[in-house]
Amino acid sequence: MPHDPVSAPGIETLAVRAGQRRSAESEHSDPIYATSSFVFANAAEAAARFMDGAPGNVYSRFTNPTVRTFEERLAAMEGASWALATASGMAAIQTLALSLMKCGEHAVVSANVFGSTVSLFDKVLKRCGIETTFVPMADPAAWRKAIRPSTRMLFAETPSNPLCEIADIAALAEVAHDAGCPLVVDNVFCTPALQRPFEHGADLVIHSATKYLDGQGRCLGGAVVGNDGGILDACFNYLRTAGPSLSPFNAWVLLKGLETLPVRMRGHCENAIELARWLERHPAVAKVHYAGLPAHPNHELATRQQSGYGGVVSFEVHGARAEAWRVIDATRMLSITANLGDVRTTITHPATTTHGRLSDEQRRRAGVGEGLIRVAVGLEAIADIKVDLARGLDALVV
Ligand SMILES: Cc1ncc(COP(=O)(O)O)c(C=O)c1O
Repeated sequence: MPHDPVSAPGIETLAVRAGQRRSAESEHSDPIYATSSFVFANAAEAAARFMDGAPGNVYSRFTNPTVRTFEERLAAMEGASWALATASGMAAIQTLALSLMKCGEHAVVSANVFGSTVSLFDKVLKRCGIETTFVPMADPAAWRKAIRPSTRMLFAETPSNPLCEIADIAALAEVAHDAGCPLVVDNVFCTPALQRPFEHGADLVIHSATKYLDGQGRCLGGAVVGNDGGILDACFNYLRTAGPSLSPFNAWVLLKGLETLPVRMRGHCENAIELARWLERHPAVAKVHYAGLPAHPNHELATRQQSGYGGVVSFEVHGARAEAWRVIDATRMLSITANLGDVRTTITHPATTTHGRLSDEQRRRAGVGEGLIRVAVGLEAIADIKVDLARGLDALVV
């Protein structure tokens, strides 16, 4: 949708301008407030900030100006009223889950979420007495059926990791709202540059800022984003007490990442669609998972819901683990690493890395087979990425 500069600035403008605050030094670029605590003019001011919630910083586990700039910029880019930064993406999901749910309550989560997200719900939260039902992401009827009186949140990751399946955010929001629950969307794969879940009815967004928001593989970070003030209060109380807070240095790195996010995402999308089309034609490849391909079952939905298809392309080779590992091991330029969202192309074997600690049944539910390879397409020349992958793929067909 073309943006209207009178009603709202474009996302490229927000990426470089939103939330900026200048100190008395009038610096042009955002400063880093590398301080764990803040001083008070006198004991009365300290007491007012600690005990009466008077405005101003107290301690960087609670608030920090660099972290706040990152939060305000990300919230503006998502079109939301607030963001709360956390130490990692998993810290964001943990903060939100433990702020929305207590012992005896229940969550409905899409089956094919990131491996640690499955473990968080299925192991850690289960030990706290919080139950989870995992459902196929593309089937709103299954989500509706899974709702219990104790359900407190619906959680979908779209596009999903690693298969790039797409959930219909508007349809899931309807299910969630009929049940009186918030719909949470993990927007890591698309970022606000390609998908704005609030415009489709989502209530909360989760980010692993470690991925595209940083974009250069430098640091961990995360965020919960939303509009509901009560949920912000609950998450903020959890964060300031339990402490999974973002460091000011990492917030500064992530601010620099946000500045180039819309431009980088365009480059990731251009390279990814070209790679997906090339892989589709390669005789060693059995199947390509990329919603930008017309053959992908969610192609139409992705076209409607996203402004680009993202940078992650997964594919299955003919064969199983040995064949997938041969392709990975034959690369010379691609980085064999589980991270994604980097300017450098990364390659991984999900069944033995990101999803390696899941049970066979959980891996089956997530659709992660032994022949699956995930490529997070970077910004190198696409011809060089193809040459690096062709080495192993070509060897499989001779
Ligand atoms: C979709 C998705 N959500 C959440 C996470 C967790 O993020 P972090 O590694 O920053 O904790 C990841 C990490 O790979 C991810 O891919």
